[in-house]
Formats: sequence, C-alpha cells, structure tokens
Amino acid sequence: MSNQAQYKAIRGMHDLWGEELEKWHAVEKSCLSTLHAFGYTEFRTPVLEMLEVFSQSVGEETDIVEKQMYQLQTESGEKLVLRPEGTSAFVRAVLEHQLHRLAHPQRYFYYLPMFRYERPQKGRLRQFHQIGAELLLDPSPEADAEIILLLDQIFKAFGLTEYEIRVNSVGCETCRPPYKEVLKKYLGSRIAELCPQCQKRMERSPLRVLDCKNPTCANLVGNAPKMVDHLCEPCKTHHIRVSEGLALTGLPVVQDPNIVRGLDYYSRTAFEFTSNLLGAQSALGGGGRYDGLAKRFGSEAIPAVGFALGVERLLLALEAKSLIPKVDKGGSIYFAPLGKAAYDQLFALSFALKRKGLQVLMSYEPEKPLKWQLKQADRLKVEAAVILGDDELKKGEVVLKEMKTGNQSAIALEKLEEEMLRRFHQ
Ligand code: HAM
Repeated sequence: MSNQAQYKAIRGMHDLWGEELEKWHAVEKSCLSTLHAFGYTEFRTPVLEMLEVFSQSVGEETDIVEKQMYQLQTESGEKLVLRPEGTSAFVRAVLEHQLHRLAHPQRYFYYLPMFRYERPQKGRLRQFHQIGAELLLDPSPEADAEIILLLDQIFKAFGLTEYEIRVNSVGCETCRPPYKEVLKKYLGSRIAELCPQCQKRMERSPLRVLDCKNPTCANLVGNAPKMVDHLCEPCKTHHIRVSEGLALTGLPVVQDPNIVRGLDYYSRTAFEFTSNLLGAQSALGGGGRYDGLAKRFGSEAIPAVGFALGVERLLLALEAKSLIPKVDKGGSIYFAPLGKAAYDQLFALSFALKRKGLQVLMSYEPEKPLKWQLKQADRLKVEAAVILGDDELKKGEVVLKEMKTGNQSAIALEKLEEEMLRRFHQ
C-alpha cells in the first residue's frame, strides 16, 4: 500500500493557489502593462530544449551548465534540458524563424518558468519564474539604456525604490582577451589566497573570480585590474554613452567593475539590480548586451540586449514593503435557495448570469439550511447573497443580503437578473 504523505512537490518547486496566486496576478498585471507601454510583445518558447542550446551559449564553465541543468534523455537518445534561462532559447527561436531578417529593431518579452538545480533557500528555487525582455537588432547604447530604464520602471510602477542599479562593461572579443591575461597575472601572483573554486576557475574563467562571494577573494578583487580601464575605444565610447543615456533620464546608477554575470554570452554592458530587501539572494534582476550569442549557434552576430527579473524575488521585495497591489476581483454573488422550486429557478438563473460575465456561486446540495449557505457565502467572500424561499417565491421577490454590512432588501424576482448585472457586474 502506498502512503499518501509520501507524495510531495519536488524540493524548491511550489504549488500556487488562492490568495497567494491572486498576488501573483496583481503583480503580473502591473509588469505586463509597463512592458506594453515600452512596446514589448510576448514571446513563448517550449519548456524543453536541446541540450546544446544552453551548453553552447551560456558557457560550458558556468554554474548553470556545469551543475544546474535538469537533463533528460528520450528513448531515442536525444538529450533535452528543462530551460534554465530564457535568452539562449529566445536566440535559438529567432534564428530558427529568421526573425533577424525582419524589420529592425524588435522588442519581445517572456514570462516563463525556469529550472535550475540549486540549493533552495529564501529567494532561490529550483522552479522559478522570470519576466524577461529582449531588444533585438539595435546595437546602439541607447538600446542598453532603454532596457535598464524598462526594468527600473517595472519596479518603480509598484512604488519600489529600495534597490541599486549596478552597471559595468565586460568588453568585447577584442579587448576582453588581453584584459583576461592582465587579470590572470594579477590573480596568479596571489593564487594561494584564493578559495579552492577560484583557484580552479582562474585559468579558464578568471573573470568569474571577480564576483566570488568568498570574503578573501572579494578582498583580493578590490585591488584587481578592472575591465573598464582596459576597454577598446568602441567599447569605451559605448559604455560612456549608456551612462549618459541613463543620466539624461535622471536615473542614478552605480558603476561596479565586479559585475560580470554568471552567463558567458555578454559583451559590453552588463548590469544587475540588487536589493537589501532580499537577504543573501540580492539580485532582483539582471542582464546585458549579447551581440555575440547568435555566433555561438553558427550565425552572424546579431545585436541584442535584454534582462530578466525573478518574479518570486520581486514578490518578496514587494511583500517586505507592503507594496503588492490590491487585487480587483470584480463582483460576485451567492445564490441561497430554500426548497426545490427555488433551487431550480436559481440554478437556471445562475447560468444566465454567468453567461453574461457575472460570477455567481451556489451549492448543489438543495437540502442545506440557510445558515449553512450564508456561511459559505461568507467564506467565499462574495459581495452579496440572494435568498429565495417559499415565502419569497409566493411574493415574487428575493431577499438580497449585502455581506459587508448585513443589510437586507427585497428585489422583484422578475427584475433579479437585470438588477444583479447593474449592481455587481463591473
Ligand atoms: P540571471 O541573472 O541568471 O539572468 O537571472 C535573472 C534573474 O532571475 C535573477 O536576477 C534572479 O532575480 C532570478 N533568478 C535566477 N535564479 C533564480 C533562482 N534559482 N530562484 C529564484 N530566482 C532566480 C538570466 O537568466 C539572463 N537570461 C537574463 C538576460 C536576459 N540577459 C539578457 N537577456
């Protein structure tokens, strides 16, 4: 015999329903309306992708590819991955549908679940949700500024202000390799002081040492040579212009030479929005420019810049500041019939009203007493209950009980449909 208690959701993956899910809806609504104002339209990719879509693009030596991907193999031997992030899948789709041959620029957003095998903790899950935006085919620094301004506005629209915007440039194929050598040299002379993981990383991914959370590594990195001091002229001009664009709109940002991001595909702008409302997992969102990503799929370079925010983390930050928007549920009523004739009449009428868009609830247990039915109405948080018994039927009217005030009034039965729509349908 199986024991029912053994069936549990996977660690780090959550069920959502009721009031918690209503908060999600309110938060989604605001985010989507900001994305709409900025001209972004939705893009959806499948939850499963070929393994190479991520291993090629995110980078073999990133945490995501090294140890965080949920992989599965089909009977025929295909290796598939549950999407750990949206950008690589998006670029795969752009190339597959040749969207880069269409009009420039193009603006897309996605709102999708992502999967990473990480150690769950506050703000860190194994199935989490990202809202991301990608601005395709615009190489200008103003496009980078737009993406940062969009993420900022998504947060500001809730009244959330407790975060910092950290911006850096990670250079390009021309200036990054020589910088890596300079950095390697610096770190090489201090290798004994680095944490064991950074000692391993140093040879192939020295930039990753820059965002190591280990205090001694972080200390060493403070005096390390900085990418921004080694940018080639075009990267330097681009970086300065991104900051100017942000300054023109009055958005304060922090220049942070240690923002390198945990994904390999960035060039030039890289940024993170961090908040002390979140605890250890302080990144509300992040992104950057990834002009070279399409090349990793064998295409020519395609200019693109984007971000993704973690919806669970946004909810945590909003909860901490009591900024979750009020949920507008629309009108709803409860039908409480007493006796078979009233039951049949209200049963039919409830569907007439539902067909017109008003939420009507009733119990399909005709013998339940009025007290029980009114308790249900209360529990379901409807605005009003409609009571119809033999006496009311004879008089050709119903009693309408407003749940908040307890006030009761009579309404002619023949006018009930019209009245309910007028009063409760928004
Ligand atoms: P990312 O920094 O890996 O970037 O993730 C973006 C955001 O997703 C993080 O800042 C965080 O809020 C959230 N997040 C990441 N991992 C978890 C987790 N395990 N649990 C909860 N939330 C998490 C990307 O994914 C890039 N694709 C962003 C991008 C778009 N770059 C260009 N376009």
